[in-house]
Amino acid sequence: MAKTKTQFECRSCGHISPKWLGSCPSCGEWNTFEERTSAAKEVEHKARVSGLESNEKPQKLSEVETSEKSRFESGIAEFDRVLGGGFLPGAYVLIGGEPGIGKSTLTLQIAKSNPQLSILYCAGEESAGQIKQRAQRLGVQSDKLLVFNETQVDKVIAEAQKVNPDLLIVDSIQTVYRTELSSMPGSIQQVKECAALFQQLAKKKNITTVVIGHVTKEGDIAGPRVLEHMVDTVLQFEGDKNYTYRLLRSLKNRFGPAQEVGVFEMKEDGLTEVSNPSELFISDKTEGVSGNAIVCTMEGSRPLLIEVQALVTAASYGTPQRTANGFDRNRLALLLAVLEKRAGFSFANHDVYLNIAGGFRLSDPAGDLGVCCALVSSLLDKPINQQTAFIGEVGLGGELRTVPHIEQRKKEAAKLGFGNAIVASGKGTNGERYIRDAIKKALG
Ligand SMILES: Nc1ncnc2c1ncn2[C@@H]1O[C@H](COP(=O)(O)OP(=O)(O)OP(=O)(O)O)[C@@H](O)[C@H]1O
Ligand SMILES: [Mg+2]
Repeated sequence: MAKTKTQFECRSCGHISPKWLGSCPSCGEWNTFEERTSAAKEVEHKARVSGLESNEKPQKLSEVETSEKSRFESGIAEFDRVLGGGFLPGAYVLIGGEPGIGKSTLTLQIAKSNPQLSILYCAGEESAGQIKQRAQRLGVQSDKLLVFNETQVDKVIAEAQKVNPDLLIVDSIQTVYRTELSSMPGSIQQVKECAALFQQLAKKKNITTVVIGHVTKEGDIAGPRVLEHMVDTVLQFEGDKNYTYRLLRSLKNRFGPAQEVGVFEMKEDGLTEVSNPSELFISDKTEGVSGNAIVCTMEGSRPLLIEVQALVTAASYGTPQRTANGFDRNRLALLLAVLEKRAGFSFANHDVYLNIAGGFRLSDPAGDLGVCCALVSSLLDKPINQQTAFIGEVGLGGELRTVPHIEQRKKEAAKLGFGNAIVASGKGTNGERYIRDAIKKALG
């Protein structure tokens, strides 16, 4: 009998090692190695699901037949935009997100927004009854929606080939499993193997497949990176637990724009599209308060106005506090240093608190100028003119750098009543060149 050899495999990237390691040498993740036997690996290679074997031969590119079917829409405008104009037939899409963020809700809502689509919804996490309850709450009544309470991947694939739906939804990839493999559902081996089978199903049988994946504690989609390589499109569903808005972000897209963002609001009757998200993040109650600045960031191809709030107070203990919420702390330290050295505003004896309103995370460098002005406004206790929006990156020399899509950002700001944009000068844009000039202009 062949000796079974033990190996260890990284849950995150699939790296194989003969012995257990604390940190993966390939992807650098910690504590991700899982034991597997080589016998299991053999099964993995031998096992094939009926109907998916192929005997394809190489073809000339000119002779390859392309399907005439064009994209079809989910009917949820924000979702379709993120996909790049709807689903491409045979596309393989992964939707990741934290528990309870609304992944199942979003996918189930497709049956309401586009009742013409035949959908096979394969549920491993909830019973058919629970799904029906949710469907009733969401107002889903489609007769073309089939709910399939099965987690054995071979049965799901056989059923999908029989039904041949427009859309197969697998909720979630962590619950489906192959009986041939000894490891638990949700382990790297199972997830990889099942995901590969769904890939073949999507590509060979041209069935558009959406798989839902959980994110790990660290926030990586579905844990294993291997999944991200297999699928055509990776969508991340994110949001702050304390707020009702949700962002659907495309991290990878083979057939459409990447980094596109859709904005939704979670309500009792499901996710509703937010067509003017800037209004969501700006309050009208802060007029005349120092330390508030409006910045214009880009989310995908879309400009978004966000409110930055700074509070600068006299430090009561030795080392002053620097606290940032929704903003990188190191970036805040850097901007404080620039303000001190290049503009002459010292924060050395002050506690600094920075907050991005609405639970949003500001990572666009175009927000730098607004953050600096909010800090100085609070330091001097002088409110910024309410009709002002800030657009520009701050360099270490105290110079302002221009950012992409200036016109689009300015237009969005003007649309919401911030006609008085202070922007960094650049090619073709008249604006401020140094941070101290911009501050003077904003605060007089
Ligand atoms: N009656 C309700 N009113 C308002 N919002 C609700 C209601 N019921 C559920 N929700 C919202 O729906 C969310 C759960 O959505 P859903 O089950 O689609 O999430 P999920 O991402 O699929 O979660 P999981 O990872 O557990 O499968 C809840 O966190 C809550 O915000
Ligand atoms: Mg769910």
